[in-house]
Amino acid sequence: MVIILGIESSCDDTSAAIIKDGVILSNEIASQKVHIEYGGVVPELASRAHQQNIIPVVDTAIKKAGILKSDISAIAFTRGPGLLGSLLVGTSFAKGFALAQNIPLIEVNHLQGHVLAHFIKEHENDTNQPNFPFLCLLVSGGHTEIIIVKSALQFEVIGKTIDDAAGEAFDKCAKVMNLPYPGGPVIDKIAKQGNAFAFNFNKPKIKDFDYSFSGLKTSFLYFLRDRMKENNKFIDENINDLAASLQRTIIEILLDKLVKASKQTGISTIAVAGGVSANSELQKQMQIIAKKHNWELFIPSFGFTTDNAAMIAIVGYFKYLNNNFVGQDVVPTARFEI
Ligand code: KG4
Ligand code: ZN
Repeated sequence: MVIILGIESSCDDTSAAIIKDGVILSNEIASQKVHIEYGGVVPELASRAHQQNIIPVVDTAIKKAGILKSDISAIAFTRGPGLLGSLLVGTSFAKGFALAQNIPLIEVNHLQGHVLAHFIKEHENDTNQPNFPFLCLLVSGGHTEIIIVKSALQFEVIGKTIDDAAGEAFDKCAKVMNLPYPGGPVIDKIAKQGNAFAFNFNKPKIKDFDYSFSGLKTSFLYFLRDRMKENNKFIDENINDLAASLQRTIIEILLDKLVKASKQTGISTIAVAGGVSANSELQKQMQIIAKKHNWELFIPSFGFTTDNAAMIAIVGYFKYLNNNFVGQDVVPTARFEI
């Protein structure tokens, strides 16, 4: 029996989870509300909030799992990528816990966590997991990548954004429309009442399977500036159509490349991961494309799309089976390739 305690603290969610032989027992998340009034994550405030939250969150995760601290086989923590001050809190906690309990320490790449979230078993007989190799579209606030997942611990990134991430495009464009942070879920919601073909925005021409979103953000900003000069109520009067049209453009950009990648690699087992994979229209469009191209499609359960520690614990589980441990001299890293 292998019981892993996972710790996630890379951005603005403090999370702890317990996974037993791949099956989730608990997944506690304390989301930090302090950033809302600033319209984005303030790194200094994030680390302080992690420091406050980490002990109670771990405590609750252990209690809800119905286990004892002494039952835990190893502790897995997010080493990066992310905000350094935030990562330091989780890393230091994990080191102290490993030392106190005399158990192995496992470092986890946050992005690998998002991808392997598909392997978290929600109950013992849960067999809804992709076969290797599969293609994963990883779309979060900091990353946009197409990855060939060859095995649980073997990844090949075949495309990535050369500037902003898809989540950033949602968040930054939402800010321009005076919507609250994070903008992704808000745009998702209001876009349901809008016309996705009301406005057209230029799509980038980028080579191979790479992405770019900064041009879209800039053209969106200029478009609104020009229209607001003519009518200073333009944003308010068209907010739903703007959200729906912007969302359609982002989704088209994402899926055009994914279809291309599937054709070129011949891989038709397709997964999506990361915070943006919670987007209802993205999920809908992926289901339509999956039918058309005969894809076997994997979309994570809602709770495993955005940052959580269960995805860190599941990577920890695979690494534990491989005896893949680190020493007490490990340090977090803001940049960390998959
Ligand atoms: O994976 P995540 O929780 O954190 C990072 O590792 O970055 O992703 C956060 C991102 C934010 O940009 C947020 O706006 C976006 O995911 N997001 C969404 C939705 N829910 C979260 N974007 C579009 N539609 C959503 N429903
Ligand atoms: Zn994330």
